[in-house]
Amino acid sequence: MNAPLSRIRGGVHASVRHDSAAGHTNGQALYLDDIPAVPGTLETALVLSPHPHARIVSIDIADALACDGVAAVVTAADIPGKNDIAPIRTDEPLLAAGLVEHEGQIVAAVAAATLDQARAAAKRVKVEYEVLPAVLTVEEAVAKETYVAPIQTMARGDIEAALTAAPHRLSGEFRCGGQDHFYLEGQIALATPGEGNRDIHVYSSTQHPTEVQHGVAHVLALPFNAVTVEVRRMGGGFGGKESQSTIIAGIAALLASKTRRPVKLRLPRDDDMRATGKRHPFFYRYDVGFDEEGKILGLDLLLAANGGHVADHTPAVLTRALCHSDNCYWLPVLRFRGLPCKTNTVSNTAFRGYGGPQGMFAIETIMDDIARHVGRPLDDVRRRNFYGQGRDNVTPYGMTVEDNIIEQVIGEFGRSVDLKGWRDSVIAFNRTSPVVKKGLATMPVKFGISFNRPALNQAGALVHVYTDGSVTLNHGGTEMGQGLFIKVAQVVAETFQIDIDNIKITATTTGKVPNTSPTAASSGSDLNGMAAKNAAEQIKDRMADVAAEQFNVPKGEIVFSSNRIYAGNRSMSFAELAALSWDKRVSLSATGFYRTPKIHWDFTTNTGRPFYYFTYGVAAAEVAIDTLTGEMRVLRAELLQDCGASINPAIDLGQIEGAFVQGMGWLTSEELVWDGKGKLRTHGPSTYKIPGSRDVPPIFNARILQNAPNREETIFRSKAVGEPPLMLALSVWLAVRDAIASLSDYKLAPVIDAPTTPDRILAAVDEIRERASLRQ
Ligand code: MTE
Ligand code: MOS
Repeated sequence: MNAPLSRIRGGVHASVRHDSAAGHTNGQALYLDDIPAVPGTLETALVLSPHPHARIVSIDIADALACDGVAAVVTAADIPGKNDIAPIRTDEPLLAAGLVEHEGQIVAAVAAATLDQARAAAKRVKVEYEVLPAVLTVEEAVAKETYVAPIQTMARGDIEAALTAAPHRLSGEFRCGGQDHFYLEGQIALATPGEGNRDIHVYSSTQHPTEVQHGVAHVLALPFNAVTVEVRRMGGGFGGKESQSTIIAGIAALLASKTRRPVKLRLPRDDDMRATGKRHPFFYRYDVGFDEEGKILGLDLLLAANGGHVADHTPAVLTRALCHSDNCYWLPVLRFRGLPCKTNTVSNTAFRGYGGPQGMFAIETIMDDIARHVGRPLDDVRRRNFYGQGRDNVTPYGMTVEDNIIEQVIGEFGRSVDLKGWRDSVIAFNRTSPVVKKGLATMPVKFGISFNRPALNQAGALVHVYTDGSVTLNHGGTEMGQGLFIKVAQVVAETFQIDIDNIKITATTTGKVPNTSPTAASSGSDLNGMAAKNAAEQIKDRMADVAAEQFNVPKGEIVFSSNRIYAGNRSMSFAELAALSWDKRVSLSATGFYRTPKIHWDFTTNTGRPFYYFTYGVAAAEVAIDTLTGEMRVLRAELLQDCGASINPAIDLGQIEGAFVQGMGWLTSEELVWDGKGKLRTHGPSTYKIPGSRDVPPIFNARILQNAPNREETIFRSKAVGEPPLMLALSVWLAVRDAIASLSDYKLAPVIDAPTTPDRILAAVDEIRERASLRQ
């Protein structure tokens, strides 16, 4: 009898449930704040700046220090190393030094025996400020030319000539808002001093343990090997725990090093929203030339990102925005200019899509304007502009699109969704409904996968097989709810051909896998899956040698299948072979490594092949607006997302649905409001509205594109999924515009910014009615 067809539980392509699905709901999945406190652990409260821009004249901590239970108060002056935690550039202080540049900036921190004591003492820290003029909006920054990093450009052809020669031309300005990450578990860190008055162990809710390690080491003037950073899971990150977690961990570590006691810093939601960065709001200005059918002949686009007070991730977010301002469209002549604006608001940072959504927001809004102008359906105008159709398919950054399947995705979508019937019903509804108006729009997405910076596209893993056949898996990726751990465990189960319950998933720590990249850019399973596979294959190969010797057959005849190892009609269990390997003194432990092939990027020219591959998707959404109140509901959404050969369809569907709803929130209800004094007025759930369960469209169908393995050799031919479906929510933005446009018999393009809050919808309704009446 030869090896049977594999029958293992939890191999790749199986819909295995999230390893913590039960734990997430019954409370057994431990979050950082659930770690039992060691006696003597101190709690922390922060002193935040009340001004958006001010010189710090003096800080008096004497009163605070004298308060009950207080163990330490720290300011920038207490930092033994460098007061710099910049992730990309330099000079981004952990604690404000001499100057505050946004309201909510952290000036001092107090550690005390109890949280109440820390909070009481924080109020007694006396800071004297000399208030300075502040730049509060991105438009102001554009006018004043204040930037946090160099301006970025991408260009092809003679834009002035193309615009002048074009038969039609449109120009305009519009905006999209920022977005708070609103992770359910806020920012938190617990720092515990270790041996030798020096070592420090930091538990951090972070997507980037290595950057936290580096940040803490810089602040405390320690070598990296003195700092260990550990994270089992986050209660959501969404990009907000890529660089921002270093602020929290850095302060906890500073206080722990000063007091030699464990220190916990857990931000209350309001402080979290005031003191940590968000998605970048963008301001756009465009000038586009096109033909009668809406084919773009030249696009001049200015993208001004509100970077906030320091650079943080802004340069890279801006690059990704530029790299996605083409979306699925080939632009013959173009000029993109990206402005990384400096304002006196909290520094904006990574957020799911990382500039990609803002890039696509621009081109899709422009495409919609063009479609209204030429009086053709948006989908037809898009088709005229798609990559393919015998074009050279070179993107604005010089990469050739080789794997374009957007037509295939749209074709597949059309087979399950009757778009024409759907549109007819919306138009019919609008004809007889004077107050409530419906809108419908689709959204095609092409999203590039890999970090733009080539060095980040590497990963490591550590796999141990024990003599009972159980396996321990560790890698550099972090779990934030997205299901990375279960996917990588599936890869290891598949490689060893053993049931997934034999694999123990362990916390990410810089002590096991060093020099890791952030879990970001949707690349977690692509990178760590490959590294873990590499480690498992090394061990498997050694075990195969042992089996070949034992069965006295050539190694090529050894087959791992269904939890056993076969040589013709003889076999033994995986556990038996593990024990035998130990007996033969063969190592059952290996580190794995992976680097993404084919990619390169030139930062000076913004050209190269930044992405290993693209992933595609399409969506359609129907909305209804109330033209008297501005209220809006998403009634139905249909999504189709390319996941290559999905490693775990159940997990991927969860990502598709979650990303879409999060994108909806960004575009519709999540409004960040800063007042004229630079104070964020929406710093809690009472004023900041994320989508709730009742905002999910009542008809909501998400599907994964079938029979579409990745053409590149990714992990089991899968594709990344964490961020791309967020951009499918642009269908909602366009559907709201469609509903407003219906008031002009679909002839005029609405004037509106995102998010489409009721007041913005009302204003746009009034505005379009006025213009429509003038035309008659
Ligand atoms: N899903 C959940 N549940 N929670 C999260 O915080 N973050 C998103 C996405 N999906 C996130 C999530 C972001 S911003 C990214 S980049 C990816 O997950 C990161 O994980 P991956 O690379 O393993 O997909
Ligand atoms: Mo995701 S914004 O790349 O963490």
